[in-house]
Amino acid sequence: MTVFQRLESNVRGYCRNFPATFSRATNAFLYDKQGRRYIDFLAGAGTLNYGHNNPVIKRRLIEYMEQDGVIHGLDLHTSAKARFLEVLEKTVLWPLELDFKVQFTGPTGTNAVEAALKLARNITGRTNVVSFTNGFHGVSLGSVAATGNSHFRDAAGVPLNNVSFVPYDGYLGSDVDTLDYFEKMLVDGSSGLDLPAAVIVETVQGEGGVNVAGQPWLQRLAEVCREFDMLLIVDDIQVGCGRTGTFFSFEPMGIVPDIVTMSKSLSAYGLPMSIVLMKSELDQWKPGQHNGTFRGNNLAFVSATAALELFWKNANFARDLKRKGQMMLDGVEKIAEEITPFEVEIRGRGMIQGIACDACPALAGMISAEAYRRGLIIETSGAEDQVLKFLPPLTIEDEVLEEGLEIIRDSCRTVMESQSLREELATAE
Ligand SMILES: Cc1ncc(COP(=O)(O)O)c(C=O)c1O
Repeated sequence: MTVFQRLESNVRGYCRNFPATFSRATNAFLYDKQGRRYIDFLAGAGTLNYGHNNPVIKRRLIEYMEQDGVIHGLDLHTSAKARFLEVLEKTVLWPLELDFKVQFTGPTGTNAVEAALKLARNITGRTNVVSFTNGFHGVSLGSVAATGNSHFRDAAGVPLNNVSFVPYDGYLGSDVDTLDYFEKMLVDGSSGLDLPAAVIVETVQGEGGVNVAGQPWLQRLAEVCREFDMLLIVDDIQVGCGRTGTFFSFEPMGIVPDIVTMSKSLSAYGLPMSIVLMKSELDQWKPGQHNGTFRGNNLAFVSATAALELFWKNANFARDLKRKGQMMLDGVEKIAEEITPFEVEIRGRGMIQGIACDACPALAGMISAEAYRRGLIIETSGAEDQVLKFLPPLTIEDEVLEEGLEIIRDSCRTVMESQSLREELATAE
């Protein structure tokens, strides 16, 4: 029995599918304690967009520590925080003409979501919030109330209130605009829907199964929010920081949210850090009204600043993301061909792609398990874990990306011919 089995809570999750003990990592590679190399298509569930241990960022962190830079700062002014804010302003906010204020929240994504929901409720004086089917926003009580999946909801232990769910884009098939339904509910005083303070949405639902909202749908959602005076919150925690090809996932959608939540890859090095961005007129917090001990992870400010300077100061990185995203899509299409005769759906934007195996949900997990045996880590997502979710670091080298895609393709071939698939199909019948 390992120390993990003996001592670590039953709640542990990812390590059950990928049980190696990892001890070293560089860019898209993880190494276990025996030195076996794994290609990382999980990337900390969207936290390692810039790979493991980027050498430039690492150097900045080491230098900062060698100078005895402040590490923990509550919300005190520090040089590292000032530098982060200045660089964020210059590199991201000004070029996009976004008049946002920045709130530093507790370090995890759910802390940012809680703050965003609380702010929206305080501003509007309304309690209800609209979230979408298959949405995932975290597991603390406010966030899990806005999360669709019953696996997480059932663990809450209390009734989850003050959130109404509306079908996400495509939930009722490609020929139904789910916003017709939402709008009708808002207009109809007898629909039972209390006017929401806000709508919280992911432009691409990561945990929910790589569901992609179309541009027309998002634009109409923004209009509906304006028309009914609801705040639009974009949760960019998983698909922000370049995952879809631009710093914010909403940039090419032609919408400007009222509030944005960011975390995961923001610190660029796997260090915990989250922020809420809000239009400046929405910064209606009273001093100290929402706090948290770990809002000042200055090491994360240093690494986040380094990443903005390294990757987002000019357009080259974003341009290359487009090329790499296409390369990835080509590879994913080839993989999907191997899964015939099952009908699968490919969906994604930029460097988040999914293969949905709705006809045989267990298939995604079987392919993931076979890929792991062959030295690659890829997770599944969706309500039934039926979606194979491709999330390599954005900085992955072309040849490693190719190698990884090839491993998954080979894994599909093996699974399609396997006895375990035949058994799975027999039980499903
Ligand atoms: C879109 C989105 N929001 C919020 C969260 C919650 O973040 P955390 O797990 O850091 O609390 C996640 C995590 O996967 C997420 O994908």
